[in-house]
Amino acid sequence: MTDKPEILFNKASVEGAELEHIRAALESGHTSSSGPFSARVNELLRAETGAADTLLTTSCTAALEMSALLLNLQPGDTVIVPSFTFVSSALAYVREGARVLFCDIEPETLGPDPRHLAELLDDSVRAVVVVHYAGIACDLDGIREVLKDRPDVAIVEDNAHGLFGRWRGRPLGSIGRFATQSFHDTKNFVCGEGGALVLNDPDDVQRAWVLYDKGTDRKAFFQGFVDKYSWRDTGSSFGMSDALAAYLLGQLEQRDVIQAKRRGVFERYAEGLAPHAEALGLRLPVVPEHCEPAYHLFHVLMPDHETRTRVMKELKEEGINTTFHYVPLHDSVGGRQFSARPTECPVTTDISSRLMRLPFHNNLTADDTDRVVETLVRSMTGV
Ligand SMILES: Cc1ncc(COP(=O)(O)O)c(C=O)c1O
Repeated sequence: MTDKPEILFNKASVEGAELEHIRAALESGHTSSSGPFSARVNELLRAETGAADTLLTTSCTAALEMSALLLNLQPGDTVIVPSFTFVSSALAYVREGARVLFCDIEPETLGPDPRHLAELLDDSVRAVVVVHYAGIACDLDGIREVLKDRPDVAIVEDNAHGLFGRWRGRPLGSIGRFATQSFHDTKNFVCGEGGALVLNDPDDVQRAWVLYDKGTDRKAFFQGFVDKYSWRDTGSSFGMSDALAAYLLGQLEQRDVIQAKRRGVFERYAEGLAPHAEALGLRLPVVPEHCEPAYHLFHVLMPDHETRTRVMKELKEEGINTTFHYVPLHDSVGGRQFSARPTECPVTTDISSRLMRLPFHNNLTADDTDRVVETLVRSMTGV
């Protein structure tokens, strides 16, 4: 054990006018969804992503569920999902009656492997979910090539990690028919629990608002297009409270500051570890030249599972909190139950057993980062 201060794995922080905005929302009396702060956040997100429209939701999970409803899934339909992702990327489609097919990842970006995707693609597939792990774009060239003759298959970018990252100059979240964002308090921009559905096809906008508003045309009513609103379709209560949108606006207004801080943490880790990586058998994140990361997290790949377990324990004893990511979905109880058929995802199994995430948040100091690097190197060399 150590007497040095603990280095937290994550810590959400107030970065700008969040408290003032929340106070204003509460004093205005409008704290339900679709209020003035939501309008400002949507305007900002639309301007940044070029989306046809965006809808603020209670979580990224809820946004994925909306994408599943918009896909009009039928019995027998399947959705291809990476095994290396959070449960929600698959669960949302399973709830709408689809079966999932788990795709392996490629070892560089840790996003879906286009070669495995090509093997899985059949007539039952309605959508492919892609994750930009850590906020670094997956192999979108390869994925789009595989799907080039299947315009009926939608790409859903689960962009929980990727807001403000770029691929070939284009914003992550602007490439698929749908993209989903997370504002959970572990993400770059937070409001406790929250998310957004990004609609890149204008044809989805009208129905999306009906699904969002408990299956009613409430939005069209407030826009003056209908003289009363009524039940039209399926849906739910997906909307984010305007009090949380106020919180989120305060965060997003500071996007340049927040992203610069996170970039600083990422680069200091990368520079500190690079000279040791080869000798220690550590692999650092790979950032392809055409990708601008969103700096969501920093991970290392350890040489093997046993070393990861030992090093995580030793870092914890030194007051440094690390974690692993993700437990493979194809091997999980739910994954086996809800997949159309078992698939092999050996890269996912291997990466998941060796990946370790280092402490990462906006206000991690250079001293903290250096302490993590030194302790990690010491733990791996045993000196
Ligand atoms: C890739 C991915 N998708 C979706 C989610 C779920 O996000 P939320 O908690 O906002 O529903 C997470 C959560 O960490 C995630 O990592």
